Order: sequence, then C-alpha cells, then structure tokens
Amino acid sequence: MTYAKGAAAPVTPPDIAARKGGAPIVCLTAYTTPMAQIVDRHCDLVLVGDSVGMVMHGLPDTLGVTMEMMILHGKAVRRGLAHALMVIDLPFGAYEESPEQAFRNAAILMRETGAGAVKLEGGTHMAPTIRHIVQRGIPVMGHIGLTPQSVNALGGYKVRGRGAEAQAILHDAQAVAEAGAFSVVAEKIPDILARRITSDIRIPTIGIGASAACDGQILVVDDMLGMFADFKPKFVKRYANLAADAEAAVAAYAAEVRERQFPSSEHVFGETTASAKGA
Ligand code: KIV
Repeated sequence: MTYAKGAAAPVTPPDIAARKGGAPIVCLTAYTTPMAQIVDRHCDLVLVGDSVGMVMHGLPDTLGVTMEMMILHGKAVRRGLAHALMVIDLPFGAYEESPEQAFRNAAILMRETGAGAVKLEGGTHMAPTIRHIVQRGIPVMGHIGLTPQSVNALGGYKVRGRGAEAQAILHDAQAVAEAGAFSVVAEKIPDILARRITSDIRIPTIGIGASAACDGQILVVDDMLGMFADFKPKFVKRYANLAADAEAAVAAYAAEVRERQFPSSEHVFGETTASAKGA
C-alpha cells in the first residue's frame, strides 16, 4: 500500500500491537534521510538497525556500533519520516549490564532522535530489562532467534531453534511478550518454529529469515536493493540491483571524463547570459 504524505496519522507502537493476526506489517531498515523518505511511503515501521555499522560503516559485525552512531543515523532517519513508526536499536554494550543502564540509554536514544520505540536483543534473560523499560514509558520491540550482537557466543550467524533448541527459542518469545514488548523480531529460525511462536504469543512477530506466517516482515533495505553484489543471505530477496547500476554509472562517468565528453555544452555556463544579468 502507498500512503500519501499527511494522509494517515503517524503509526504508534499500540497501532503495531493491534495488528496481531491482521494485515501483514511491512518493515524495513533505514539509516539516512533520503532512504527514510522512500521507505516511509510504503512501510508501517522503519528500524534504525545497528546493522548500520556493517551496511554504512564497513564494520565486520554490529559489535562496534556506538550510541553516537545510533543517534547520528536516528536523527537523519527521523527527518525523513512522516508516517511510519521509527524504532531504534540499542547497540551492543548499552543495555546488557542492568535494567537501569538499559533505561538510561533507551531514554537518550528516544530524546535525541525522536524515535517511537527501542529494540533490544535477547529472550528470557532480557525479560526483566524489557519490563523495566516498558514500565517507565518506553515501548520496546524484542529480538529473538539469531541475535547478531551475540555472534561470538553463538559461533556465527547460524539458523537458531533447530531440534532441541526450538523450545528455548519459544520460551524466549513468550518471555519477551509477557515482559510487555509491543512486538518481536524473529530472526533466522525454522518456518515451523516461527509459525508456532506466531500462533502462541499475543504480540506481532516480525520475521527475517523466519516464515510468511509471521505477523510482519523486515529486511535490511540495502540487502533487498542489491547494494552488495558479493553477499546475499538465503532469506534476502533482491528487488533491485543497485550495486550493479551504480558500478555502470560510475564507469560511464569515468569514461566520459577521460574522453572529454563530460561536461558537454548543456552542463557548462555561457558568458553572455550571466554577464547580461549582472550575475
Ligand atoms: O539491525 C538490524 O537491521 C536488525 C534487523 C536485521 C532486524 O536488527
């Protein structure tokens, strides 16, 4: 669905929660103002993900992402949104120590960026933290299954919840919902487990590498636009090939500059018009 600017009131966390079992919730990440403007016209929820570290800053994982980076990109995205709910990630190290630390940094992100909610990774062990933040007025989106900030402990970006681990992931989802989160991202888990979680918990599940049965879907916007030619996770569908388009455009520019075809007469300024006007 395309929303005309100003036609619909901005989406709130309760609006997302109320979509449980209803029309699929459309979510994407964004990190800049121009991309936020495009995504806003089509999405219910925009996540300023800590994937920003890998996508925009060339980091090897999300562990090097700081509060300062999240604030900078959060402010940029906020300027581009008129409709979608903006959710911002708490970066690694900004919330795990204690519920108090988590609230303090969540409040900074909300105040500095104008986000409508924060997201944090973790299941049963993070439930008390989620409850603490929610009870103090900050909506929280959970994130279970593959939690990229724990990549070292997990031993890589493997599918979670296969076999005996399924029960633990289900408990994670239940704990996050019972702690008061308004929705939960379920990342890289088997389809059958995502379906079970979605039918079991009362808050919307937002799948990424999970199941079409989830209450909504999210992708990293640069992944689905094909900004990375060399890497495509199985769960990403490419809707464009912008890296190839950019490569071709830059190559054409370089060739034209070398052959003095650019700039041509339409891109340069004449003497007479400017001097006649006194410019
Ligand atoms: O940081 C991020 O972009 C995310 C999504 C992959 C859900 O957490």
